[in-house]
Amino acid sequence: MESAFQVKNNEYHCENVSVKEIVQKVGTPAFIYSQNYFVDRFKELDEAFSYVPHLICYSVKTNSNIAVCKTLSDAGSGFDIVSGGELQRVLKAGVDPQKVVFAGVGKTEDEIELAINTGILFFTVESEPELRLIAQVAERLGKKGPVAIRVNPDVDPQTHKYITTGKAESKFGLDIDRAKQLFNEAKGLSSIDVVGIQMHIGSQITKTSPYVDAIKKMLVWIEDIRTQGIDLKYFDIGGGLGIVYEEEQPATAAEFAEAIRPLIEDLGLTLMMEPGRFIAGNAGVLVSKVIYIKENPTKKFVIVDAAMNDLIRPSLYEAYHEITTVDQNKNGSEMVADIVGPICETGDFFAKARSIPVVEEGELILVKSAGAYGFTMASNYNTRPRAVEVLVNGDKYSVIKERENVDQLIAGEKFPEW
Ligand code: LLP
Repeated sequence: MESAFQVKNNEYHCENVSVKEIVQKVGTPAFIYSQNYFVDRFKELDEAFSYVPHLICYSVKTNSNIAVCKTLSDAGSGFDIVSGGELQRVLKAGVDPQKVVFAGVGKTEDEIELAINTGILFFTVESEPELRLIAQVAERLGKKGPVAIRVNPDVDPQTHKYITTGKAESKFGLDIDRAKQLFNEAKGLSSIDVVGIQMHIGSQITKTSPYVDAIKKMLVWIEDIRTQGIDLKYFDIGGGLGIVYEEEQPATAAEFAEAIRPLIEDLGLTLMMEPGRFIAGNAGVLVSKVIYIKENPTKKFVIVDAAMNDLIRPSLYEAYHEITTVDQNKNGSEMVADIVGPICETGDFFAKARSIPVVEEGELILVKSAGAYGFTMASNYNTRPRAVEVLVNGDKYSVIKERENVDQLIAGEKFPEW
């Protein structure tokens, strides 16, 4: 599928459903996702790696709705999780635990216990004390803790500094010397099964060269670790594949797979990958209604009913998201404005000095590429209930998460006894 969102009869559609029709029913702000897009992107990547045994583990943090997880599970995907909460989500979606890998620097004892009892494929271990805790919990349960160790290859993924993870100064993984020591320690622990090695160098990476550089380093280390008598099964190269938000020209799945093919094809390990944004980013949009248009002497503001609590990426990373009108019958007339939300923060904006089709109060706008790190990073700041989520398939659509209401937001709050 080229694009999940296309203009037909002068207005935006998701697959075959009019966006206007959906929001007339569900209101705004609304996240709308194309089910077929998730599947197509997963398959694109899956097929590109058909030359090697592999398991693609969709990164749940990107878009964790259980309907999205089920969609990808049905397509054959595995899952990369980072919390007990995400584990419960994928279980609810009917995912096979043997296709689940658990990353993150701060796994708690309860989360480790749940994961061992569930029978996940492996933990990605990020520190010495974490390995020891997994060993302890596994022993107490009379089970084995399967682990991969996350190595920090110290390469620059050439992306935004907040989403760079594989450099020496980052909190993730272990440098190779400490990792080797930990592999050795793990080998001696009777309740631990060492099964793999992992890396994740960053996110929104558009070139293949940072992966090639990192994998080349890892191959030398994998060889060393194997000669220590450790029998690895999995090489997990993490996520990070970039997408088009504006004018990026990211490597395609096929280009990426071919670039690393000579390095991994004959390694004798199952290749694992943890893509998130690649699968979900352009599967979704955020639809919002213009509340007011406000002009001061130097600027025009389009004030919409979605805000930074719904999609924080522009505020947090100064990320670019394309913005346009749902109605495309505009004869090319444009206006320049800041597109902002109702929240009481200067940082509450979707775009600054952006040229968009002329809009009027009450009109609908689309914020594109909002399928990844949109709803999952949403908050209730300013006591704003989170948006509704809708999944489209062909000419059908369905609400997959009801819009929150204020009663739900204040439900757990109480007055102190005194
Ligand atoms: N695996 C691990 C261990 C990760 O930490 C991440 C993302 C992924 C996989 C998936 O990365 P992806 O394929 O989506 O690039 N909130 C930021 C992105 C943070 C990424 C965190 N880790 C954003 O909105 O750009």
